[in-house]
Amino acid sequence: MSMDSAQAQRVIESLRKGIPPDGFVRHFTVGRASEITRLTERLDTATPGALLIKANYGSGKTHLLRFIRESALEKGFAVSSVTLDSKGAVRFNRMDHIFGAICRNIEIPGMPGQKGIGAFFNFVVEQLKRAKYAQSTTFWWKLTNNWRWDFSAALDSPAMFVAVRAWITGESSVQNLVEDWLLNPWVYRSQRRLLYRELVGSLWRFFRDPRPEWFFHSAEVFCFHTRSYAQSWSALRDLQRLLCESGLKGLVILFDEFEDVITNLRNIAYQKEAFLNLFKFSEGKLYPGLSFFAVTPEFVEKSMQLLLDRAIPGMSYLTHEQIKGLLSLIGDKQEWGYYNTRFKTIPTFQMTPLDVKELEELAMRILETHGIAYDWEPDLVMRASDLDSIVRKAASVQIQDRARHTIITVVKALDCLLEEKE
Ligand SMILES: Nc1ncnc2c1ncn2[C@@H]1O[C@H](COP(=O)(O)OP(=O)(O)OP(=O)(O)O)[C@@H](O)[C@H]1O
Ligand SMILES: [Mg+2]
Repeated sequence: MSMDSAQAQRVIESLRKGIPPDGFVRHFTVGRASEITRLTERLDTATPGALLIKANYGSGKTHLLRFIRESALEKGFAVSSVTLDSKGAVRFNRMDHIFGAICRNIEIPGMPGQKGIGAFFNFVVEQLKRAKYAQSTTFWWKLTNNWRWDFSAALDSPAMFVAVRAWITGESSVQNLVEDWLLNPWVYRSQRRLLYRELVGSLWRFFRDPRPEWFFHSAEVFCFHTRSYAQSWSALRDLQRLLCESGLKGLVILFDEFEDVITNLRNIAYQKEAFLNLFKFSEGKLYPGLSFFAVTPEFVEKSMQLLLDRAIPGMSYLTHEQIKGLLSLIGDKQEWGYYNTRFKTIPTFQMTPLDVKELEELAMRILETHGIAYDWEPDLVMRASDLDSIVRKAASVQIQDRARHTIITVVKALDCLLEEKE
């Protein structure tokens, strides 16, 4: 990868805090060859469904998700990176929260710095319109019912149809409302009349929707939460559909800190719903795109411990090994047996922490970049063996902080050398 000195300075700036910046994650990735091959294959074949990425604290889960983000954007997928946060409004038992978070964080390839559902709509509309004057077979024709905008069989979610149609008016107040609604659908539960008025009724200058207002309410057009969040799923499917029709490969969703459902979701009923949602992502039917979930290695056992402890109180003293043994004895006849089987069907891969050799390689790349950034030749001052010994010392800290600590230490050492030299 070629870098000019301004870019290299930006990179070093970020490495001082221990992480490579967006756009350079792949350049600063070492090891993980087999994982990376498997990930790339998943992207190349656009395999629908979920993949669990398991690694210990500080062993590179977030890094790998960022790696996938970069590769996926380059291969022509839209990407949405979501970090779970039950204390905020990103609860995994609530598909309306998840849908909102996906809309908030969606990124389109070739549109760096523009994030969110607004960028999505602008892109999709422009792409679809390109083919508008072609025959009646185009998606645009189907979506707009040949520009009449009165009815559409092209999308699964009637809310998405209302949203796209309103977006195309180009009115900024309308677009702001569409954006706010899709990012926070639950806030609008009690404002359905406002949505009808602003997004349908008062837009008669642009289109005429022949359906009366009561129809919209009885058909739950503005509801993302009813019928087990059905419309949160169908709208998600439509995101994928619209992206594919616009010439992209589809959508990749990255969920970081998935452990949050165990540690912060607290209520067992919510936790069960969150697990069921994970299974739905994994099946790839309700949402036929790709998704990746970052968890620690004991995630499944910890989840089973929660479920077991509810079924038979006092089980929390069991070790993960004992739980595994118990489950294999009892089989899948109980409710928690069901969860156990479902967890097992989700494809998983486990990452080991980076070893010293790999960290040395990473240090070499930092050294090269530092040289480009400040126009000097650090390898003339710092011998490879010096660099290795810095790395070995830095890598002797607790495994959680290893990689990060090594990156910070190497940059610091190079900064010092450069200063002495000047
Ligand atoms: N394969 C890799 N190549 C180079 N650097 C890596 C690699 N994997 C991780 N790192 C670096 O290791 C550090 C820790 O990685 P990361 O933050 O991704 O771990 P994590 O598993 O998400 O941690 P946490 O459990 O705290 O969320 C970061 O500085 C990251 O840039
Ligand atoms: Mg992380």
